[in-house]
Amino acid sequence: MGPRGPARRARRRHDPSHAARHLRHRDRRRARRVRGARLADRPDGPHRTPAQRHAPARRPRGGAGSVSALIGRRIVLRPLVIGDFEQWREVRRRNHDWLTKWEPQRLPGHPDAVEDRDAFAIRCSARQRERQLGTAYGFGIFVDGDFAGEINISSVQRGPFQSAYVGYWIDERHAGQGYVPEAVVLICRFAFEELRLHRIQISIIPRNDKSRRVVEKLDLRFEGIAERYLEINGAWEDHMRFAITAEEWATRGDQLSRDWLD
Ligand SMILES: CC(C)(COP(=O)(O)OP(=O)(O)OC[C@H]1O[C@@H](n2cnc3c(N)ncnc32)[C@H](O)[C@@H]1OP(=O)(O)O)[C@@H](O)C(=O)NCCC(=O)NCCS
Repeated sequence: MGPRGPARRARRRHDPSHAARHLRHRDRRRARRVRGARLADRPDGPHRTPAQRHAPARRPRGGAGSVSALIGRRIVLRPLVIGDFEQWREVRRRNHDWLTKWEPQRLPGHPDAVEDRDAFAIRCSARQRERQLGTAYGFGIFVDGDFAGEINISSVQRGPFQSAYVGYWIDERHAGQGYVPEAVVLICRFAFEELRLHRIQISIIPRNDKSRRVVEKLDLRFEGIAERYLEINGAWEDHMRFAITAEEWATRGDQLSRDWLD
């Protein structure tokens, strides 16, 4: 007979197959909870009274700002901390040309977080504050423990909108492995099942074929083109808007999780 009581529980905690089984069961329980929940039962759903609707936003378990890691099949998402600076800088420097054509320009006079450790520390603190306020959730994408990119939930709006935007990038060395679609599915699960948002939007410049492939693979719904929507690399660029709502996640979330996370 094997160990019993606390010894057995301690052994199980350190057994990776048991941990994976536990996570799978937890995810199924959560998925059932989301499917079973009626909109009107949700604490922040649009069918609540105005007073209920404008109650403080629901925060992830564990308290304000205490977002821990989101574990995928091959990747881990977790908030960046000052200790990530060297790796983050190395990846950002090496990917300068790969990334800057798809990003907003740095504002004149603002410190460059890539070259300035203090500016990176301020960036980490600002992200932490956003998590505490429930307005944004930034994550590093880690592959085999190494920093490989970022994915962010930004502009979380509560009230009747319950919506947010998702943006992402990956180190060119890791491109083409499906890491970003996997990260988007993790983010959807977090946004719909933990944050209880109702809608997520991803905006893509039409000529960004690689990013369009990400939303095609996940079959996110195309909503149309927003003209001169965002400043990217110094120009107001049209963007294709793709979205997924909680209703779609309720019917598709299990399959997306099976395809990308299990
Ligand atoms: C867009 C981006 C996030 C996709 O991430 P990813 O993890 O590589 O996504 P996928 O693995 O699903 O690959 C998507 C497409 O990239 C292309 N691709 C594949 N391998 C590649 C490689 N080694 N290098 C470059 N692109 C590659 C392919 O067209 C692929 O589609 P396919 O799988 O049907 O062949 C990534 O290319 C990136 O960071 N680009 C620069 C920043 C950016 O565009 N951000 C998004 C702004 S909306």
